[in-house]
This record gives sequence, C-alpha cells and structure tokens, in this order.
Amino acid sequence: MALKITVIGTGYLGATHAAAMAELGFEVLGLDVVPEKIEMLSAGRVPMYEPGLEELLRKHVAGIGGSTGRLRFTMDWAEIAEFGDVHFICVNTPQKHGEYACDMSYVDSAVDSLARHLARPALVVGKSTVPVGSAERLAARITELAPAGREVELAWNPEFLREGFAVQDTLRPDRIVAGVRGEHAERILREVYAKPIGHGSPFVVTDFPTAELVKTSANSFLATKISFINAMAEVCEAAGGDVVKLAEALGYDERIGRKFLRAGIGFGGGCLPKDIRAFMARAGELGADQALTFLREVDSINMRRRRDMVELAREAVGGDSSFLGKRVAVLGATFKPDSDDVRDSPALNVAGQIHLQGGQVTVYDPKGMENAKRVFPTLGYADSAVEAVRGADAVLHLTEWREFRELDPEVLGEAVTRRLILDGRNALDPARWRASGWTYRAMGRPRA
Ligand code: UDX
Repeated sequence: MALKITVIGTGYLGATHAAAMAELGFEVLGLDVVPEKIEMLSAGRVPMYEPGLEELLRKHVAGIGGSTGRLRFTMDWAEIAEFGDVHFICVNTPQKHGEYACDMSYVDSAVDSLARHLARPALVVGKSTVPVGSAERLAARITELAPAGREVELAWNPEFLREGFAVQDTLRPDRIVAGVRGEHAERILREVYAKPIGHGSPFVVTDFPTAELVKTSANSFLATKISFINAMAEVCEAAGGDVVKLAEALGYDERIGRKFLRAGIGFGGGCLPKDIRAFMARAGELGADQALTFLREVDSINMRRRRDMVELAREAVGGDSSFLGKRVAVLGATFKPDSDDVRDSPALNVAGQIHLQGGQVTVYDPKGMENAKRVFPTLGYADSAVEAVRGADAVLHLTEWREFRELDPEVLGEAVTRRLILDGRNALDPARWRASGWTYRAMGRPRA
C-alpha cells in the first residue's frame, strides 16, 4: 500500500510540500488552522506568488476539473491523524518579539495537537527550521501524548527550498537530509523520496542534532558569503576597487564558487536574518556562543548596507541632512526577485528610511505591491516603473527583477527630472545607462 501523507501548516513550505508530494504520486491531506487558507487552497489558489506552484496545486487538488484529486485540505486533527502514515510538520518558526531566539509555539502546538490523536503507528517528520535540540524534546513529547505511544516515531528532515524556485527545489532537492533514530524511519523516508533519490538527489542520514544543524549552518554559510562580499564592497569603496570584477575573479576559483557573491544592499527575507539570529541565541544557551560571534558581524555588515544605501542616495540627491523636497523612485519592494515576499526586505527598508527622512518615495514592484502596501501604507506606489520614476531626482534599483534589467534607459530618462540611477544590486549594465546620459552609481564600484 502506498504511504498516505499529511502536511501540517500550509504556508510557503507546507503548500509547496503538499503539492510536491501529490506530484510524486501520494495521497495527501493538508491541514491549517486558518480557515481562509484552507478555502483558498481547496479552490486551487495559492496565497503567495511562487512560479509554478498554483499550476501544480490545480493539477492535484480534489474537485478541480481534470485534477488527479490526490490532494485535499482539512482543519480536523482527528482526520489528519486517522489518514496519515507520514505527517510532515511545516509550520513556521518566526523570530520572537524583542529577542533573537526563535518562537517555537507553532511547532509545539502542531506537535501537541497531532500527537494527542495518533492512535496508530505513524512517522512524524519535522521540516520547520528549529533550534538544535528541539527534535529530541519533541520526540519525548510525542511518546508521552500519543495514544499509540512508541509506535509513533519522529524524524527530522529540514527543508532547503528557495523562494522563487520552491517547486523545483522540492521535487528535485539538491540533497535530502534525514535525521533519524533508527532504520525504520529511514526506510519510510527513502520510500517517500524514492523518486528524487532515483533522479540522483543525495540522501544523507544523520542523527537529530546534525539534521537540525545542517539547516541553520547552511543558512549561516550563505549569509556569511553575502556579507563577505559586501564587506569587500566597503573595502573597494575605500580603495577605489570594483567589487563586481573582484567577485567575478574570486568566483572562478572552484573552491570559492561564484554563487552568493553578489554585492549590494544585502540579504533579507523570512529565513536568513532570523535563522542566523536564532542560531546565535541557541549557541548561547548551549554555552557555544563564542563559536558564532562572527555571525553578529555578518548581521551587522548586512544591516549596514541598508544604511549605506540611504547615505549614498542622500549624498547623490544633494540633501544636506535629509531628503526634504526630493523625489525618489524605488524599483523593487520584495526581498528578492520572483517572489512577492516583503518580509525583512532590504528594498522596502531603504524606501522606508528615505521616506522617514522626508523624501517623497514612489515604489514599484512587479509582484510585491500588495504586500508592500500592507507593511508600508504611507509610501507612494505606482503601477509601472515608468510611472514610479516620473519627476524623480533619483532612481534606486533595489530588487533585481529581470523587468528592471530590460528597462530602456532612454524611455525612463524622458520621465525623470534628473538622470541619476543608484544600483543597489549591481545588476544593471552601467555602460548602457551611462550611454543614455545617466549618472550610474553602485555600491562597491568606482564612480565614472
Ligand atoms: C534562503 C536559503 O537559500 C534557503 O536554502 C532556505 O531554505 C531559506 O532561506 P530564500 O530566503 O528564498 O532562501 O532566499 P535566497 O535566495 O537565499 O536569498 C536571500 C537573500 O540574499 C535575498 O535577499 C537576496 O537578494 C540576497 N542575496 C543573495 C544577495 O544579496 N547576494 C547574493 O549573492 C545572493
């Protein structure tokens, strides 16, 4: 009999995982505690922008014409417990208010609600990003609460999906990490992931703490790589070097690699910033805080980039100590392209700072407008890049959407008051903009 799968929490991770599991051929039941999410997903709609996800969902959600019907949603814990052989916990673990540590309340309550109903053998699989040590604690909790007791096992299987590539990363992960305590759990996870394993995804078996650490250390490494190149950008600025050329040359060294060496206004989003902070907090609890003090520096280099971008803009528009009377166009609101996510977005943060210093800011983003307006309703918004730059004293390119790289500097030049573009992502072609009479400035690059 094919395994039956449940997915608990239908946010970014869960919605993608549920659709991917159905695509792999399993019967899937998803649960969320928010009724609106269940209604939307059951109608084949996704509450966020993620390329390919809605199509995949519609291909499998029961009740949609032509679908396989393998994917359903519910709010009923008893139904979930009765249905599933494997239960994936995909709820989020945000940063606690006023603290670095991560808020485990959603994971804890999901595990408790599920465990109380587990009257038959099952494997519970944690996918959420959690502080190391959580799996051990949760395993004990499940044994204590589940009517089936020791017949319910726990495994930890961190998720590495990138927003914008969530579907592809879930169907063809570059690695599958299985934190298990025995062969039975490993066997079940190998069955769940048989297809990706067959296509070559490496399957790494570890203990609980290692599995939890793979996720937080991967994110720490990525954050460090970005802050490294941004630190080099600061040095380039001081020394008159060009960080883009530097990164290119570094990237040819196979040991270094060229990915995640794009200097600019730094990283944001719902993962990297909060994960490195939670990791520091956890290391402190474990008495290993010294090992991670460098992450404090990684974090502060990153946050400094936002401030430096604001400074660069203020200087460029000739504001003495503020942006009073200046019109600033901001291209990009999301924390990265191909996403509508504005959580901890460097772009929106910069836009907000300029606005708070008296600038008249108009933002345009291809997909992030709704979310940006919700977070920052007092900023100005325009329906296109050309509308956003109309009358601007400076244009700030802050999220590297393809649409922005394809903009015609001539057309934009007609709309602005002054042809001044500041590239916060080092993604535009300086020669093209300069050829149209623009002053092009970027972080870590020489002024021409
Ligand atoms: C990240 C991890 O990559 C993923 O494995 C994990 O599961 C969740 O967190 P994501 O948040 O989708 O994924 O974004 P990612 O593509 O890693 O980018 C993070 C941030 O770094 C973005 O703001 C991006 O603009 C920035 N970035 C990335 C740079 O500033 N420079 C780079 O070279 C690369």
